[in-house]
Amino acid sequence: MTARILDGARVAREIRAELTPQVAAFAARGGRPPGLGIVLIGEDPASQIYVRSKARAGGEVGFWIDLHVLPASTSLADVLALVTTLNRSDRHDGILVQSPLPQAMGEGATRQVFDTIDPAKDVDGFSAESVGRLVQNRPGLRSCTPAGIMELLDRCGIDPAGRHAVIIGRSDIVGKPMALMLLHRHATVTICHSRTPDLADTCARADLLVAAIGRAGFVTRGFVKPGATVVDVGMNRLSDETEVRRFFGDGSPRIDERARKGSVLIGDVHPEVAEVAGALTPVPGGVGPLTVAMLMKNTLAAAEARAGRGT
Ligand code: GUN
Repeated sequence: MTARILDGARVAREIRAELTPQVAAFAARGGRPPGLGIVLIGEDPASQIYVRSKARAGGEVGFWIDLHVLPASTSLADVLALVTTLNRSDRHDGILVQSPLPQAMGEGATRQVFDTIDPAKDVDGFSAESVGRLVQNRPGLRSCTPAGIMELLDRCGIDPAGRHAVIIGRSDIVGKPMALMLLHRHATVTICHSRTPDLADTCARADLLVAAIGRAGFVTRGFVKPGATVVDVGMNRLSDETEVRRFFGDGSPRIDERARKGSVLIGDVHPEVAEVAGALTPVPGGVGPLTVAMLMKNTLAAAEARAGRGT
């Protein structure tokens, strides 16, 4: 069997194409476009790439993008002051502070920053209020990656109701909200993590397996029930040619790609899983573009709600 590829990039383009006229209509009605404030602190290369793609996508759907790039030496107090300014601004409908924050800001800084963002502008869905609304299945802004996965499943005709969903990873950003969203759609949900015994056996009972652990090619054939849907949230970089050959095989075009670019992306799911799974999200071109598309959707929703329309 070769898995059906769930084309996240195509679905993300679809979502953004649907949003563009809605954003234009918002701007025509309100005399200004929805505004998104993006804050990047430090020089984490992955964060720089993510932020660039969020800013570009926002500009393309018609948002006003206010990008703040701050040095790693910025104090926590200064970040909190900036967030407070953006909270008070009428032009900013959404606020996003890219994580991780620089380590020097100290433990607890991320939570403090997320807690300072006005819940009405919390387009990442990370605040305690947004998470509480998700737990209770009330309307609210939802974490973008799991919301994008739900959108992908829906648009590909995969209904989680009555299925066993297994999630590997218990992060606040992906694992926990993913579990809740699937639960609300009537899946039976198991969350696995580093201390789960018999991890492969548990995963192999899943109809729907979501891998969000950040370990290259960790989910191998033995983790997957034949025909299962597998969603790969991982974004790991391989720069060593031997590693690329080990994961993708000697004839893979990824070997040339690594030679040209210096590295290639691989998810948390081993490429061999395509021979067992019924459906699979690719990396790149799967979950990543959906996260960005859902950020756009959340920003418009926040703008509509602040303007007195929408939820
Ligand atoms: N770091 C990794 N993913 C995300 C995300 O979706 N939002 C923010 N703010 N930071 C992240």
